[in-house]
Amino acid sequence: MKQTQEHSPLKEVQAPLEEDQAPLKELDEWDDFVATRYRQGKSEEEFRNYKADANPTVTEFYRQNHKYQTLDFVLKKKAEYCGLKRGKKSIWEMAEYLNTLVDDSDPDTDVTQIEHLLQTAEAIRKDGHPRWFILAGFVHDLGKVLCLYGEPQWAVVGDTFPVGCAYSDQVVFPEFFAANPDSGKPEYQTQYGVYEPHCGLDNAHLSFGHDEYIFRVTQKYLPEEAQYMLRYHSFYAAHKHGAYRHLMNDHDEPMFEWVRKFNPYDLYSKGRERPNVKEILPYYQELVSEFFPDKIDW
Ligand SMILES: [Fe+2]
Ligand SMILES: [Fe+2]
Repeated sequence: MKQTQEHSPLKEVQAPLEEDQAPLKELDEWDDFVATRYRQGKSEEEFRNYKADANPTVTEFYRQNHKYQTLDFVLKKKAEYCGLKRGKKSIWEMAEYLNTLVDDSDPDTDVTQIEHLLQTAEAIRKDGHPRWFILAGFVHDLGKVLCLYGEPQWAVVGDTFPVGCAYSDQVVFPEFFAANPDSGKPEYQTQYGVYEPHCGLDNAHLSFGHDEYIFRVTQKYLPEEAQYMLRYHSFYAAHKHGAYRHLMNDHDEPMFEWVRKFNPYDLYSKGRERPNVKEILPYYQELVSEFFPDKIDW
């Protein structure tokens, strides 16, 4: 994906080296890596060898992500974006905007961002799930507009993980956490770190990215099950590997069943046939307007 080279507000926080910018040719490279990692039918042994599936750009991407996602960084980004002060836009305007992340590498085989959203939603619809579930599929990656706001790739995509407490070795490339400044802060490196046992994920801070942002934007319009799907869909260490249960409360546990239910549609809908956008668009227009007002805060 081409990204607009706008001024990155991050430069004021910390100045990453020039070569630290944008290792991925397109954001989807990360999504594709995750899908390969969890390819259906993969043996446990094959899965453990995930590094073999990671090309150098994906590896470099994780190196940056694990190095720069500190508690301090997450708090700054939440303060910057979670108040939703960037103006009112419709879901459709943002979907069109996200689509301007134009793919220039392989226009014939790669689907656009809107197509990925529609494929995910259509797969959910075909399985007869409720309308809010289908809608969650349709909006789940709209938070990637962060990239168009000028955020670096490592602050938009990537497996998410709690910051301010010990890192789980169930997070991919755990060795890269050694370069994170928080690794040198003993108070952040105990099992619970700055949190209380079973404090609930809502009281924990996960690495910042498109999940948290779209959760915030859509929170008041969607049922809680959908909110969990959006907020934690990249939290693979938890929903795939059962890590960080010591931070979850009695409410998170059952809600994570919904995150698990959602995940296969995100991972495996990509290979399917391209959606006939013209044909299905009226359905989605009606669905979006059932839950959302014309314009919402971003
Ligand atoms: Fe996503
Ligand atoms: Fe996705």
